[in-house]
Amino acid sequence: MNENNNRAQFTTRLGVIATTVGSAVGLGNIWRFPYEAGTHGGGAFLFTYLCFIFLFGIPILCAEFMIGRQTRSNIFGAFRKLRSSGQWHWVGYIGIGASLMILSFYSVVAGWTLEYLYQSITGALNFSSAEEFHKQFSTFSTGNWRPLMWTIIFLLLNFVIVIRGVQKGIERMSNIMMPCLFIILIIFCINSLMMPGAVDGLKFLFTPDFSKINSSVMIGAMGQAFFSLSLGLGTMLTYGSYFSNRTRIVRSATTTALLDTSVAILAGVIIFPAVFTFGVSPAQGPTLVFEILPNIFSQLPGSIFWSSLFFFLLFIASLSSTISMSEVSIAFFSEEKKMSRKKATWLNTGIALVFGSICALSFGSLSGMTIFGHTIFSLFDYVSSNILLPAGGMFIAFFAGWLLDRNIIKSQLTNDGDVKVHVMKIIIFSLKYIAPIGILLVFLSLINLI
Ligand code: TRP
Repeated sequence: MNENNNRAQFTTRLGVIATTVGSAVGLGNIWRFPYEAGTHGGGAFLFTYLCFIFLFGIPILCAEFMIGRQTRSNIFGAFRKLRSSGQWHWVGYIGIGASLMILSFYSVVAGWTLEYLYQSITGALNFSSAEEFHKQFSTFSTGNWRPLMWTIIFLLLNFVIVIRGVQKGIERMSNIMMPCLFIILIIFCINSLMMPGAVDGLKFLFTPDFSKINSSVMIGAMGQAFFSLSLGLGTMLTYGSYFSNRTRIVRSATTTALLDTSVAILAGVIIFPAVFTFGVSPAQGPTLVFEILPNIFSQLPGSIFWSSLFFFLLFIASLSSTISMSEVSIAFFSEEKKMSRKKATWLNTGIALVFGSICALSFGSLSGMTIFGHTIFSLFDYVSSNILLPAGGMFIAFFAGWLLDRNIIKSQLTNDGDVKVHVMKIIIFSLKYIAPIGILLVFLSLINLI
């Protein structure tokens, strides 16, 4: 295996899991999953999403980890080291474009989290009807200045943490906050299960109506699987490059995927019983969670405490995710373009500030600016998650399955023979056939949709 001790490495096994889970768990699980499931028929979406996690998600996660650790570089350097000829650097460009797009719209939603944290602390989220919570959110999101301000504040916080380097800031925070988030979600889950709409909510989420699985559900579920696992643009590849030679790749990938999926399902179990109890539509899109959660909290004893704690943890979870996506373009600008880390971080933040501001205004004064019926916010979300990430993932799978030396795969997955990996053949089979062909087929079904 490749030894390169100049690069930073994660120090402990817990550090590896906490950091990859820190990247994976974020708004994708708690904000995006419930709204996507809500608009795509609930159970049908969950079922398709789970299939994609196991069929492509875990194998591609292994592929990113092994390519990263083998080459000890960012996604560009990785393809150059493994295959200097050909056009593989384009996968890197897709990744950088997607990461900047995601960082832009993601920061807007992270900004909403900050607004709701602020409102929770000041006790402003104290209404009694679903309409009032709806009005509260729409007044805020269409108001231009506050969403813009929070987006900028969030991006600057992200900047401050990223500029301090790989290990220190990230590892320390994720280690403490992720378990807290998990525990608080379980508490809210129990609360939701006692609501009058619990049965309807659970039925909606867990009973797949297979007749509802069409190309729009498939493309949505595939995008969500990639988004939630932080796959397809080199984030996990970059993290793999910081793994030590003793880190077990398959085990880390499986643990990350299982924890990430559990958080998404927990979020669904919190949201949908409440949706049916409050009598609102599950299919209202990106605003869903921000109208439902405060309503749930307002009914709890000690609502200010629960609500503030939750939005604080969600904010930290978002931060550990944006840190990871920033790392992709920063590693590119600094390692490939030879910029100082400081300059690279500024460039990343600067681009996100411009596009993030446009996304922040997409719910207010720029709401009329649409392309193919999408606002800029939803276009960025759709194109990056549903198209660019799976495309990146398809190329990474194809590369690992067909072009990467089989001995490299074996030595990476088994740590030079130190660990036994029973599913090696399955992983290779998926990377060779299931993932590239499956992703291609879902894309083809999209053409049908248009
Ligand atoms: N997975 C994160 C979430 O669910 C978001 C994220 C972080 C991401 N890094 C990424 C998504 C890289 C795609 C690619 O919130």
